[in-house]
Amino acid sequence: DWTMANFIDMEVDKIREQVGDRNVLCALSGGVDSSVVAALIHKAIGDQLTCIFVDHGLLRKDEGETVMRTFRDQFNMNIIKIDAQERFLSKLKGVSDPEQKRKIIGNEFIYVFDDEAAKLENMDFLAQGTLYTDIVESGTETAQTIKSHHNVGGLPEDMEFQLIEPLNTLFKDEVRALGTELGVPDEIVWRQPFPGPGLGIRVLGEITPEKVEIVRESDAILREEIKKAGLDRDIWQYFTVLPDIRSVGVMGDARTYDYAIGIRAVTSIDGMTSDWARIPWDILEKISVRLVNEVDHINRVLYDVTSKPPATIEWE
Ligand code: XMP
Repeated sequence: DWTMANFIDMEVDKIREQVGDRNVLCALSGGVDSSVVAALIHKAIGDQLTCIFVDHGLLRKDEGETVMRTFRDQFNMNIIKIDAQERFLSKLKGVSDPEQKRKIIGNEFIYVFDDEAAKLENMDFLAQGTLYTDIVESGTETAQTIKSHHNVGGLPEDMEFQLIEPLNTLFKDEVRALGTELGVPDEIVWRQPFPGPGLGIRVLGEITPEKVEIVRESDAILREEIKKAGLDRDIWQYFTVLPDIRSVGVMGDARTYDYAIGIRAVTSIDGMTSDWARIPWDILEKISVRLVNEVDHINRVLYDVTSKPPATIEWE
Protein backbone atom coordinates (compact mmCIF):
# COMPACT_ATOMS: atom_id res chain seq x y z
CA ASP A 1 0.00 0.00 0.00
CA TRP A 2 0.93 3.64 -0.46
CA THR A 3 3.33 5.14 2.04
CA MET A 4 5.74 8.02 1.61
CA ALA A 5 8.70 5.68 2.17
CA ASN A 6 7.46 3.37 -0.61
CA PHE A 7 6.91 6.33 -2.88
CA ILE A 8 10.48 7.49 -2.34
CA ASP A 9 11.89 3.99 -3.06
CA MET A 10 9.86 3.71 -6.23
CA GLU A 11 10.75 7.20 -7.45
CA VAL A 12 14.43 6.69 -6.69
CA ASP A 13 14.43 3.51 -8.81
CA LYS A 14 12.59 5.28 -11.62
CA ILE A 15 14.99 8.24 -11.61
CA ARG A 16 18.05 5.96 -11.63
CA GLU A 17 16.66 4.00 -14.52
CA GLN A 18 15.73 7.10 -16.51
CA VAL A 19 18.99 8.96 -15.91
CA GLY A 20 21.48 6.09 -16.04
CA ASP A 21 24.99 7.53 -15.93
CA ARG A 22 23.93 10.87 -17.36
CA ASN A 23 23.53 14.22 -15.55
CA VAL A 24 20.68 16.36 -14.30
CA LEU A 25 20.53 20.12 -13.92
CA CYS A 26 18.10 21.81 -11.54
CA ALA A 27 17.19 25.46 -11.01
CA LEU A 28 16.89 25.70 -7.27
CA SER A 29 14.90 28.68 -6.00
CA GLY A 30 14.65 27.78 -2.34
CA GLY A 31 10.90 27.29 -2.74
CA VAL A 32 9.17 24.12 -1.61
CA ASP A 33 8.80 22.46 -5.00
CA SER A 34 12.29 22.97 -6.40
CA SER A 35 13.84 22.11 -3.02
CA VAL A 36 11.96 18.83 -2.70
CA VAL A 37 12.64 17.85 -6.30
CA ALA A 38 16.35 18.51 -5.79
CA ALA A 39 16.41 16.50 -2.54
CA LEU A 40 14.64 13.56 -4.17
CA ILE A 41 16.84 13.47 -7.25
CA HIS A 42 19.93 13.91 -5.13
CA LYS A 43 18.90 10.87 -3.11
CA ALA A 44 18.65 8.90 -6.34
CA ILE A 45 21.77 10.00 -8.22
CA GLY A 46 23.93 12.07 -5.83
CA ASP A 47 26.72 13.90 -7.67
CA GLN A 48 25.09 13.45 -11.07
CA LEU A 49 22.81 16.30 -10.00
CA THR A 50 23.96 19.92 -10.28
CA CYS A 51 21.81 22.77 -8.98
CA ILE A 52 21.97 26.40 -9.99
CA PHE A 53 20.74 28.96 -7.49
CA VAL A 54 20.38 32.49 -8.82
CA ASP A 55 20.49 35.33 -6.30
CA HIS A 56 18.81 38.20 -8.14
CA GLY A 57 19.27 40.54 -5.20
CA LEU A 58 15.53 40.48 -4.52
CA LEU A 59 15.52 37.63 -2.03
CA ARG A 60 14.37 37.95 1.54
CA LYS A 61 16.81 38.36 4.40
CA ASP A 62 18.93 35.24 4.99
CA GLU A 63 17.21 33.32 2.18
CA GLY A 64 20.39 32.71 0.19
CA GLU A 65 22.24 31.56 3.31
CA THR A 66 19.44 29.13 4.22
CA VAL A 67 19.50 27.56 0.77
CA MET A 68 23.27 27.15 0.77
CA ARG A 69 23.42 25.91 4.36
CA THR A 70 20.73 23.35 3.65
CA PHE A 71 21.71 22.01 0.27
CA ARG A 72 25.45 22.53 0.09
CA ASP A 73 26.42 21.97 3.74
CA GLN A 74 23.72 19.56 4.92
CA PHE A 75 22.89 17.60 1.76
CA ASN A 76 26.34 17.96 0.15
CA MET A 77 24.85 18.79 -3.21
CA ASN A 78 26.71 20.21 -6.17
CA ILE A 79 25.24 23.68 -6.08
CA ILE A 80 26.36 26.77 -7.91
CA LYS A 81 25.23 30.10 -6.47
CA ILE A 82 25.19 32.97 -8.92
CA ASP A 83 25.39 36.43 -7.41
CA ALA A 84 23.59 38.39 -10.08
CA GLN A 85 22.38 41.36 -8.02
CA GLU A 86 24.21 43.95 -10.10
CA ARG A 87 22.95 42.48 -13.34
CA PHE A 88 19.31 42.58 -12.28
CA LEU A 89 19.49 46.00 -10.65
CA SER A 90 21.04 47.65 -13.67
CA LYS A 91 18.41 46.12 -15.98
CA LEU A 92 15.67 47.40 -13.66
CA LYS A 93 17.00 50.92 -13.38
CA GLY A 94 14.37 53.50 -14.28
CA VAL A 95 11.61 50.90 -14.73
CA SER A 96 8.45 51.40 -12.68
CA ASP A 97 5.70 49.47 -14.50
CA PRO A 98 4.88 46.23 -12.61
CA GLU A 99 4.49 43.98 -15.67
CA GLN A 100 7.64 45.42 -17.21
CA LYS A 101 9.52 44.70 -14.00
CA ARG A 102 8.23 41.11 -14.00
CA LYS A 103 9.23 40.63 -17.60
CA ILE A 104 12.74 41.98 -17.05
CA ILE A 105 13.30 39.85 -13.94
CA GLY A 106 11.92 36.71 -15.64
CA ASN A 107 13.99 37.19 -18.78
CA GLU A 108 17.14 38.06 -16.90
CA PHE A 109 16.68 34.94 -14.83
CA ILE A 110 16.70 32.84 -17.98
CA TYR A 111 19.76 34.63 -19.39
CA VAL A 112 21.69 34.13 -16.16
CA PHE A 113 20.66 30.49 -15.94
CA ASP A 114 21.49 29.98 -19.60
CA ASP A 115 24.95 31.54 -19.24
CA GLU A 116 25.75 29.26 -16.34
CA ALA A 117 24.27 26.13 -17.86
CA ALA A 118 26.31 26.70 -21.01
CA LYS A 119 29.49 26.39 -18.94
CA LEU A 120 28.51 22.93 -17.75
CA GLU A 121 29.14 19.89 -19.86
CA ASN A 122 27.00 16.84 -20.45
CA MET A 123 23.80 18.05 -18.89
CA ASP A 124 21.05 15.88 -20.33
CA PHE A 125 18.10 16.44 -18.05
CA LEU A 126 16.42 19.42 -16.49
CA ALA A 127 14.61 18.75 -13.21
CA GLN A 128 11.37 20.60 -12.60
CA GLY A 129 9.21 20.78 -9.51
CA THR A 130 5.99 20.54 -11.50
CA LEU A 131 3.08 19.41 -9.34
CA TYR A 132 -0.07 17.57 -10.34
CA THR A 133 -2.07 20.79 -10.01
CA ASP A 134 0.32 22.61 -12.38
CA ILE A 135 -0.39 20.04 -15.07
CA VAL A 136 -4.12 20.10 -14.51
CA GLU A 137 -4.10 23.88 -14.78
CA SER A 138 -1.95 24.24 -17.84
CA GLY A 139 -2.41 21.09 -19.90
CA THR A 140 0.66 19.07 -20.71
CA GLU A 141 3.90 20.94 -20.52
CA THR A 142 6.91 20.53 -22.74
CA ALA A 143 10.50 21.50 -22.18
CA GLN A 144 9.91 24.71 -24.10
CA THR A 145 6.81 25.95 -22.34
CA ILE A 146 6.92 26.46 -18.66
CA LYS A 147 4.17 28.48 -17.12
CA SER A 148 5.16 31.90 -15.98
CA HIS A 149 3.89 31.21 -12.48
CA HIS A 150 6.85 28.90 -12.03
CA ASN A 151 9.87 30.60 -10.62
CA VAL A 152 11.72 29.64 -13.77
CA GLY A 153 9.97 31.69 -16.40
CA GLY A 154 10.84 29.55 -19.41
CA LEU A 155 13.63 27.71 -21.10
CA PRO A 156 16.15 29.12 -23.50
CA GLU A 157 15.22 28.15 -27.04
CA ASP A 158 18.44 26.38 -27.89
CA MET A 159 18.60 24.24 -24.78
CA GLU A 160 17.66 20.69 -25.46
CA PHE A 161 16.98 19.04 -22.17
CA GLN A 162 14.76 16.18 -21.38
CA LEU A 163 12.47 17.13 -18.53
CA ILE A 164 12.39 15.13 -15.36
CA GLU A 165 9.38 15.88 -13.16
CA PRO A 166 9.07 13.38 -10.32
CA LEU A 167 6.50 15.45 -8.37
CA ASN A 168 3.95 15.58 -11.14
CA THR A 169 1.55 13.16 -9.49
CA LEU A 170 1.60 14.97 -6.15
CA PHE A 171 -0.42 17.68 -4.46
CA LYS A 172 1.21 20.40 -2.36
CA ASP A 173 0.56 18.71 0.99
CA GLU A 174 2.13 15.50 -0.31
CA VAL A 175 5.17 17.43 -1.53
CA ARG A 176 5.56 18.87 1.98
CA ALA A 177 5.33 15.40 3.53
CA LEU A 178 7.85 14.10 1.01
CA GLY A 179 10.23 16.96 1.79
CA THR A 180 10.03 16.26 5.50
CA GLU A 181 10.68 12.55 4.90
CA LEU A 182 13.74 13.50 2.84
CA GLY A 183 15.10 15.71 5.62
CA VAL A 184 14.35 19.11 4.09
CA PRO A 185 14.04 21.53 7.04
CA ASP A 186 10.67 22.98 8.10
CA GLU A 187 11.66 26.53 7.20
CA ILE A 188 11.73 25.43 3.56
CA VAL A 189 8.98 22.80 3.62
CA TRP A 190 6.53 25.21 5.29
CA ARG A 191 7.74 28.34 3.54
CA GLN A 192 4.97 30.75 2.59
CA PRO A 193 4.49 31.38 -1.14
CA PHE A 194 7.02 33.86 -2.48
CA PRO A 195 6.79 35.32 -5.99
CA GLY A 196 9.54 34.72 -8.55
CA PRO A 197 10.21 38.48 -8.96
CA GLY A 198 10.73 38.55 -5.20
CA LEU A 199 11.02 41.85 -3.39
CA GLY A 200 11.12 43.51 -6.81
CA ILE A 201 7.32 43.72 -6.84
CA ARG A 202 7.16 44.80 -3.20
CA VAL A 203 9.09 47.97 -3.85
CA LEU A 204 6.32 49.78 -5.71
CA GLY A 205 7.53 51.68 -8.74
CA GLU A 206 11.21 52.04 -9.46
CA ILE A 207 13.54 49.69 -7.61
CA THR A 208 16.57 51.10 -5.83
CA PRO A 209 19.00 49.26 -3.53
CA GLU A 210 17.94 51.51 -0.62
CA LYS A 211 14.27 50.66 -1.09
CA VAL A 212 14.97 46.94 -1.42
CA GLU A 213 16.83 47.19 1.88
CA ILE A 214 13.83 48.82 3.60
CA VAL A 215 11.51 46.07 2.38
CA ARG A 216 13.98 43.32 3.25
CA GLU A 217 14.58 44.55 6.79
CA SER A 218 10.91 45.23 7.50
CA ASP A 219 9.88 41.86 6.07
CA ALA A 220 12.39 40.12 8.34
CA ILE A 221 10.94 41.85 11.41
CA LEU A 222 7.37 41.04 10.39
CA ARG A 223 8.23 37.38 9.82
CA GLU A 224 10.03 37.14 13.12
CA GLU A 225 7.08 38.55 15.07
CA ILE A 226 4.47 36.46 13.23
CA LYS A 227 6.49 33.35 13.97
CA LYS A 228 6.98 34.33 17.60
CA ALA A 229 3.23 34.80 17.92
CA GLY A 230 2.70 31.29 16.52
CA LEU A 231 0.67 32.60 13.58
CA ASP A 232 2.99 31.54 10.76
CA ARG A 233 1.04 28.44 9.73
CA ASP A 234 -2.38 30.09 9.96
CA ILE A 235 -1.59 33.04 7.73
CA TRP A 236 -1.19 32.17 4.04
CA GLN A 237 1.17 35.01 3.23
CA TYR A 238 2.53 37.92 5.23
CA PHE A 239 4.96 40.52 4.00
CA THR A 240 5.67 44.23 3.80
CA VAL A 241 5.39 46.53 0.82
CA LEU A 242 6.95 49.91 0.22
CA PRO A 243 4.62 52.33 -1.55
CA ASP A 244 6.24 55.41 -2.98
CA ILE A 245 4.79 57.61 -0.25
CA ARG A 246 6.55 59.79 2.25
CA SER A 247 4.79 61.56 5.05
CA VAL A 248 5.55 63.82 7.96
CA GLY A 249 6.40 62.44 11.37
CA VAL A 250 8.12 63.48 14.54
CA MET A 251 10.97 61.75 16.28
CA GLY A 252 12.37 63.25 19.47
CA ASP A 253 12.26 66.97 18.80
CA ALA A 254 12.73 66.68 15.10
CA ARG A 255 10.29 66.59 12.25
CA THR A 256 10.82 63.69 9.85
CA TYR A 257 9.75 63.24 6.27
CA ASP A 258 10.09 59.55 5.49
CA TYR A 259 8.49 56.43 4.07
CA ALA A 260 5.29 54.67 5.06
CA ILE A 261 5.48 50.86 5.01
CA GLY A 262 2.50 48.59 4.35
CA ILE A 263 1.81 45.26 6.04
CA ARG A 264 -0.03 42.68 3.95
CA ALA A 265 -1.19 39.50 5.68
CA VAL A 266 -3.85 37.25 4.18
CA THR A 267 -5.61 33.97 4.80
CA SER A 268 -6.35 31.85 1.75
CA ILE A 269 -6.81 28.29 0.50
CA ASP A 270 -5.10 28.59 -2.87
CA GLY A 271 -4.17 32.24 -3.41
CA MET A 272 -7.03 32.74 -5.87
CA THR A 273 -9.15 34.54 -3.29
CA SER A 274 -8.11 35.76 0.11
CA ASP A 275 -9.21 37.58 3.21
CA TRP A 276 -7.07 39.91 5.29
CA ALA A 277 -5.72 38.20 8.37
CA ARG A 278 -7.06 39.38 11.72
CA ILE A 279 -3.70 39.73 13.43
CA PRO A 280 -4.30 40.61 17.09
CA TRP A 281 -3.80 44.30 17.77
CA ASP A 282 -1.15 43.85 20.41
CA ILE A 283 0.96 41.91 17.91
CA LEU A 284 0.40 44.56 15.25
CA GLU A 285 1.47 47.13 17.79
CA LYS A 286 4.70 45.27 18.52
CA ILE A 287 5.44 44.99 14.81
CA SER A 288 4.68 48.66 14.23
CA VAL A 289 6.95 49.82 17.04
CA ARG A 290 9.79 47.62 15.83
CA LEU A 291 9.45 48.72 12.21
CA VAL A 292 9.65 52.39 13.04
CA ASN A 293 12.46 51.94 15.57
CA GLU A 294 14.63 49.45 13.73
CA VAL A 295 14.25 50.20 10.04
CA ASP A 296 15.82 53.39 8.77
CA HIS A 297 13.53 55.74 6.83
CA ILE A 298 10.22 54.36 8.08
CA ASN A 299 8.06 56.72 10.14
CA ARG A 300 4.57 55.29 9.52
CA VAL A 301 3.01 51.81 9.34
CA LEU A 302 -0.12 50.88 7.36
CA TYR A 303 -2.22 47.71 7.56
CA ASP A 304 -3.95 46.48 4.42
CA VAL A 305 -7.54 45.45 5.22
CA THR A 306 -8.67 44.53 1.72
CA SER A 307 -9.81 41.12 0.54
CA LYS A 308 -9.06 39.56 -2.87
CA PRO A 309 -11.03 40.39 -4.91
CA PRO A 310 -11.14 43.33 -5.38
CA ALA A 311 -7.49 43.76 -4.34
CA THR A 312 -4.76 41.26 -5.21
CA ILE A 313 -2.50 39.74 -2.59
CA GLU A 314 0.58 41.55 -3.89
CA TRP A 315 0.38 45.30 -4.42
CA GLU A 316 1.91 45.05 -7.89
P1 XMP B 1 -1.92 38.08 -6.51
O1 XMP B 1 -1.09 39.27 -6.15
O2 XMP B 1 -2.16 37.99 -7.99
O3 XMP B 1 -1.04 36.82 -6.13
O4 XMP B 1 -3.19 37.99 -5.72
C1 XMP B 1 -1.52 35.49 -6.06
C2 XMP B 1 -0.33 34.62 -5.65
O5 XMP B 1 0.64 34.62 -6.68
C3 XMP B 1 1.86 35.16 -6.22
N1 XMP B 1 2.41 35.99 -7.30
C4 XMP B 1 3.43 35.63 -8.09
N2 XMP B 1 4.19 34.52 -8.11
N3 XMP B 1 5.43 35.39 -9.92
C5 XMP B 1 5.20 34.41 -9.01
O6 XMP B 1 5.93 33.40 -9.03
C6 XMP B 1 4.71 36.54 -9.97
O7 XMP B 1 4.96 37.42 -10.80
C7 XMP B 1 3.65 36.65 -9.00
N4 XMP B 1 2.74 37.62 -8.75
C8 XMP B 1 2.00 37.20 -7.70
C9 XMP B 1 1.51 35.95 -4.98
O8 XMP B 1 2.62 36.08 -4.09
C10 XMP B 1 0.39 35.13 -4.40
O9 XMP B 1 0.88 34.01 -3.70
